[in-house]
Amino acid sequence: MVSLTQVQKNKVQEIVSMMSLEEKIGQMNQASVSIVGGFDVPFEELIEMLTDGRISQGEFTKIMESAEQDYHEEDIRLGRVGSIMLQDAKKANELQKIAMEESRLGIPLIIGLDVIHGFRTVFPIALAEACSFDSDLFLRTARMAAKESRLQGINWHFAPMIDVSRDARWGRVSEGPGEDPFLVSEFAKAKVKGLQGDTSSPMNYVAACLKHFVAYGAAESGRDYNTTSMSTSLLHNVYLAPFKAAVNEGAATVMAAFNDLNGVPCTVNSEILRDILKREYGFSGFVVSDANGIRECVSHGIAINDQDAGLQAVNAGIDMDMGTGIYSSYLSQLVKTGELDERIINEAVERILSTKMWLGLFDNPYVNLEDRMDPIPSEHIQLALESAKKSIVLLKNENNILPLNREQKISIIGELADKSSEVVGAWSISWKEEDCVSILDGLKQNSDNIRYFQTGGLTEPINEEELKHALDFGDVIVAVVGETVNMSGEAASRSNIELPGDQKKLLKMVKTSNKPLVAIVMNGRPLALEWEAENIDAIVETWHLGIQMGNAVSDIIFGLTNPSGKLSVSIPRVTGQCPVYYNHPNTGRPGGKSKFTSKYIDVNNDVLYPFGFGLSYTSFNYTNLNVTEKNDLLAIGVEITNTGKRQGEEIVQLYVRDRVASIVRPVKELKGYKKISLEPGESQIIEFNLPKNNLGFYDNNGDYRLESGEFSIYVGKSSADCLSQTININF
Ligand code: GLC
Repeated sequence: MVSLTQVQKNKVQEIVSMMSLEEKIGQMNQASVSIVGGFDVPFEELIEMLTDGRISQGEFTKIMESAEQDYHEEDIRLGRVGSIMLQDAKKANELQKIAMEESRLGIPLIIGLDVIHGFRTVFPIALAEACSFDSDLFLRTARMAAKESRLQGINWHFAPMIDVSRDARWGRVSEGPGEDPFLVSEFAKAKVKGLQGDTSSPMNYVAACLKHFVAYGAAESGRDYNTTSMSTSLLHNVYLAPFKAAVNEGAATVMAAFNDLNGVPCTVNSEILRDILKREYGFSGFVVSDANGIRECVSHGIAINDQDAGLQAVNAGIDMDMGTGIYSSYLSQLVKTGELDERIINEAVERILSTKMWLGLFDNPYVNLEDRMDPIPSEHIQLALESAKKSIVLLKNENNILPLNREQKISIIGELADKSSEVVGAWSISWKEEDCVSILDGLKQNSDNIRYFQTGGLTEPINEEELKHALDFGDVIVAVVGETVNMSGEAASRSNIELPGDQKKLLKMVKTSNKPLVAIVMNGRPLALEWEAENIDAIVETWHLGIQMGNAVSDIIFGLTNPSGKLSVSIPRVTGQCPVYYNHPNTGRPGGKSKFTSKYIDVNNDVLYPFGFGLSYTSFNYTNLNVTEKNDLLAIGVEITNTGKRQGEEIVQLYVRDRVASIVRPVKELKGYKKISLEPGESQIIEFNLPKNNLGFYDNNGDYRLESGEFSIYVGKSSADCLSQTININF
């Protein structure tokens, strides 16, 4: 929770007591900078033209420069705006000045933005960073993003996105930390600490915003904004878990999800917003709707009109309206007619003002325009490089074709190889192309024997002549394949998650040459890589790694850094396996050889690469698993040896399985992880102290249960490769 001194609490109460009803409702209104004029088509259509490629990013920027922007100055002056979305320090100071000096009560604005994985220094997308299994790294990148953005006048991040996602067709799988509730929870806690924790100076921290509350990642058929339905136990055990963990860490705000959950849109769902979030979890910050989320309740068919949607939303626990203006238009009249209790308004305003007070905005609303952090400091670039390297997962390395060496002649193919603007990934909105290192530029840092061939295959047709030259030149072919930034993220679900365009065809053409082939996969979601896994010598999963992507990939490919990442999400063989995840129930007929078991008849039943999987340039051996009860803990020990020829880091994973319970339980659940570094031949004993209380689960009444019985304990290098021991536990 955001903690206030008693003096600050009194100040908030005093301000609320002086506020008119209109001023209170003004604080519940987040305005977005609207675009007025400057072009011939509505702004929404302009966005569509950009998204579907009818206009380029450059043309879009040029048009936008000619447009005027309405910053709602008059509304701010009249106390009708409590928050705005912005990323311009000068404008932020201007608007804060109006709020502080020209409005009646001088209440500062809270200024929010989607800073999801870095601000000017763009880090790996969350799905990638989660592959580092490095909680300290999660914290450090968040802290740096907070500092960079606070300088620009931004004091509220709409992050971390902590939607567990098990369906790679969903475009926003890129934006969250993957499929496992424990890893997502650890990520969430670290991000809240990183964003909010350094209160030594107002310029070092921002308000976090846990999103999207809740179960947005369970969108049916992986189609964005689609309906979600699930049991109470699944909701609590998987989708709510990260929010509970992050609320306990003190998250300042929460954003409601677009989707309906079991028939009730989250935006008007008092059971999740008031009963669970505010009452059961004790959340004392404020809840903001998602953009236009209140108005969309009319489309959902749960509200008859905007007024009805607004009334339902505020009663359900939405404290701030993002971008519709519905609260501003209707709440005052609803209070006057007695349809809305003003105490609901007072509670929302107290939550909002408490957050602004905690941010120090009443005393420090302005930023120093001289302090631009431009160019990016080297410390920031180093952290971008570190996080990128730790997020790379080596999936295959047949005959140790990797790492490459400087003597080899290397042909680089694939459209994405020289696209520096494609390294940043979805939801990167404050970056500069000059800061971005393409994979080609990075590889050239480590070899003079590299040539790039414009073979096309993604958005361009395959250039067979260029491909022939590539095959003639190279001792080894490095193909950079995957997705553009726009192929993942919001409103970017894909019905087929194989390599888009003709990239697979390009790889097959290379394969006919029998030249050693390395695929660098640069993508925003797991891709169905069955053919690739069977036919390509080495596959490196690099995701979208941010501004230092090229240097990170190059360090790994040339062996300057030993890859250590492990998958935060399962990689399917084919699209039809989605949704697919490791922590699934066993079913009564677990997939096997006999016909009548749970499997497909046209594809191998297991995933291509499981959660927690990742190779190294060395090898590790696990022995001597030992599990003992120690009061309310399970003491778990295992010995790990580096059996290879070079130093390496290993992410040791701890899973459990409740063998028999009153509801079926997953075949494995991650309960801990540790990253260790071992020299060649070195052994280390790793210990986990697992509280037995963590072996419980929520039932379909939403009650947490600890049930005696047999538990299997697993420790290993992935969810599919573990030592195990079964123990009987009595609670
Ligand atoms: C978007 C997203 C949300 C984001 C908000 C503001 O629609 O769903 O994650 O924070 O609008 O940009």
